[in-house]
Amino acid sequence: MATLLQINSSLSGDNGHSTSLSNQFVKRWQEHNPDGKVIVRDLARHPIPHLDAERLHAFITPENKRSATQQEIVAYSDQLIAELRRADVVVFGVPMYNFGVPSTLKAYFDHIARSGETFKYTSSGPEGLLEDRPVYIFAARGGIYQGTEADSQTGYLNTFLAFLGLTNTRFIYAEGLNMGDDNQKKALDAAQETITELAAA
Ligand SMILES: Cc1cc2nc3c(=O)[nH]c(=O)nc-3n(C[C@H](O)[C@H](O)[C@H](O)COP(=O)(O)O)c2cc1C
Repeated sequence: MATLLQINSSLSGDNGHSTSLSNQFVKRWQEHNPDGKVIVRDLARHPIPHLDAERLHAFITPENKRSATQQEIVAYSDQLIAELRRADVVVFGVPMYNFGVPSTLKAYFDHIARSGETFKYTSSGPEGLLEDRPVYIFAARGGIYQGTEADSQTGYLNTFLAFLGLTNTRFIYAEGLNMGDDNQKKALDAAQETITELAAA
């Protein structure tokens, strides 16, 4: 049974365009995978704590030396990593907030990037330890940045995910959403068309 992990981060919940587009994709995926399991992680409703000194220290303390609190912190991160490892397909809903990814998504990333678990350094550089799998990223933006230096998200997300071993990424953009109704409609229609194509593939 295939499992899809959907990670949303819009502050607007299901009304967020990134969530709405990723929901449409997930619905299509379910039609093709009637026995498939969907796990939804809503980072806006259930934020992951910021990576602070206490949490980082817990991660780097050897297992047999961890206090009870440190064990809890690591167990929480382990659970997020296990959830990701189990997923055959991963879907991210990613709004652009202040020229970056939502801070909740960054906090999630800070909990799944763990040396020895999801990446390791070798003499020839870093090596991702996650098995590769399809990752779909629904990027919603008020303005238009795709292919320009101001697109701070695409390069970052590709670099981060590849660092963990996830290189099979596909971006579906909805841009210019705050640039008038016509632009918004065009962008959403185009994204929906891509979703239909992806579902048929
Ligand atoms: C706090 C905040 C910051 C934003 N910053 C940007 C930005 O830097 N660039 C941009 O193009 N749009 C920006 N927007 C617009 C959002 O990207 C746009 O509304 C998008 O639809 C958000 O995704 P969502 O609908 O999934 O929540 C911002 C919106 C909010 C609420």
